[in-house]
Amino acid sequence: MDGVSDAAKRGPQDRLAEALTEDMAAVNRIIRARMSSEHAPRIPEVTAHLIEAGGKRLRPMLVLAAAHLCGYAGTDHQKLAATVEFIHTATLLHDDVVDESAQRRGRPTANLLWDNKSSVLVGDYLFARAFQLMVEPGNLRVLDILANASATIAEGEVLQLTAAQDLATTEEIYLKVVRGKTAALFSAATESGAVIAGAPAEQVQALFTYGDALGIAFQIADDLLDYGGTAAVIGKNTGDDFRERKLTLPVIKAIARATDDERAFWVRTIEKGQQADGDLERAQAIMAGHGALAAARADALDWAATARQALTALPPHPLRDILSDLADYVVARIA
Ligand code: IPE
Ligand code: IPE
Ligand code: MG
Ligand code: MG
Repeated sequence: MDGVSDAAKRGPQDRLAEALTEDMAAVNRIIRARMSSEHAPRIPEVTAHLIEAGGKRLRPMLVLAAAHLCGYAGTDHQKLAATVEFIHTATLLHDDVVDESAQRRGRPTANLLWDNKSSVLVGDYLFARAFQLMVEPGNLRVLDILANASATIAEGEVLQLTAAQDLATTEEIYLKVVRGKTAALFSAATESGAVIAGAPAEQVQALFTYGDALGIAFQIADDLLDYGGTAAVIGKNTGDDFRERKLTLPVIKAIARATDDERAFWVRTIEKGQQADGDLERAQAIMAGHGALAAARADALDWAATARQALTALPPHPLRDILSDLADYVVARIA
């Protein structure tokens, strides 16, 4: 009986890791082998700092799970899983420079410990390593998916850059940013897993939709935690988005409902960037007062439901149930 209650207590992420233990050991071996560099010792220093810090390894597990769900029996999915983790890690190195962030995975960021130059260049190196890896299975469709995702992520980050500080940013633009910078890699992970397994079009589409909706739910939750979480829980500093004057979903919703006074507050802090002590707390209070945090939370839950729904097009499988629970789990921290 104890075993049963233990199993019930473990989160879907742990259950996923457990179901994929052997695969993930192989993926971690590939990651370790490919993050080294004979010629530039700065590379393994920086990559080891970030990669050994852990991270949830969510995206590689999505590749592996999608491939297994579609009956894959080969080993190329492990290379694809390592590929998406490299792409993810490269974007984090670049993102922390752009966002001037000081904490990542519970540690000081590489840009803080070394410098921006090292972060940018080692990020480039990891991108290049990702491309070497994604070619190896010799599957053009998979190459197409992962190459497109890399471009879309960069596009999302640049769109966000130009939307920052702009109070006219709509929810539609926010969704475009989030689909690009975050969901594109989630959907590429699940889609490429299905494609390497030779799954029928309907299953490929279902897994794409799952990854897309999961990624959107995940990023909305992350944006809410930037206003409501604690650094100890999320492993990075809170309040970064406000300081960076980002128009994330709760802010967009609060601006749409703002009184004249509140609008003046948003113009000063977000548009003009004149921020003082207590402003972050005032922003939180305004958003809570208009139900903007609750409304953003409801949107995240809707996307999680879309993700779960997409899985119904797939055959019954223990991994399908875990992925379904995972959709609830990514929004559980904000529920
Ligand atoms: C962080 O992703 C970047 C976002 C899309 C918010 P994760 O929260 O999956 O990062 P790690 O890999 O677990 O650190
Ligand atoms: C995540 O974006 C990075 C990418 C998806 C490229 P954010 O800037 O919103 O996430 P954190 O808070 O730094 O992890
Ligand atoms: Mg960031
Ligand atoms: Mg960012």
